[in-house]
Amino acid sequence: PFEITLASTGRTVRVEKGQTVVECLRSVGVDIETSCEQGVCGTCITRVLGGVPDHRDLFLDRQEQQANNVFIPCCSRSKTPSLVLDL
Ligand code: FES
Repeated sequence: PFEITLASTGRTVRVEKGQTVVECLRSVGVDIETSCEQGVCGTCITRVLGGVPDHRDLFLDRQEQQANNVFIPCCSRSKTPSLVLDL
C-alpha cells in the first residue's frame, strides 16, 4: 500500500494492494477520465509533483517514465511511500 496526496486540497488517501489509483480516487469522489484501464491509451495520464511512480504502463516511453513527472494511474503504482498528484 502507498498514499497519494492531492496537491489542490492536501487530501491524502491510501491505495490498498489490489486497488488501482484510479479506483482509489473514485472511491473518494475524484474522477479521472479513463478508457482502456490497461495502461495502453494514455487517457488517464496525470501529473506527478512528488514521489517516484512505479510505472507499469505501455503508454509512456522510457524517457517519459524516467522523468517521473507524469504517470498512468489506471495501472501504475508508487515506489515511494507517497505520491503527490496534480489533482
Ligand atoms: Fe488507458 Fe489509463 S485508461 S492508459
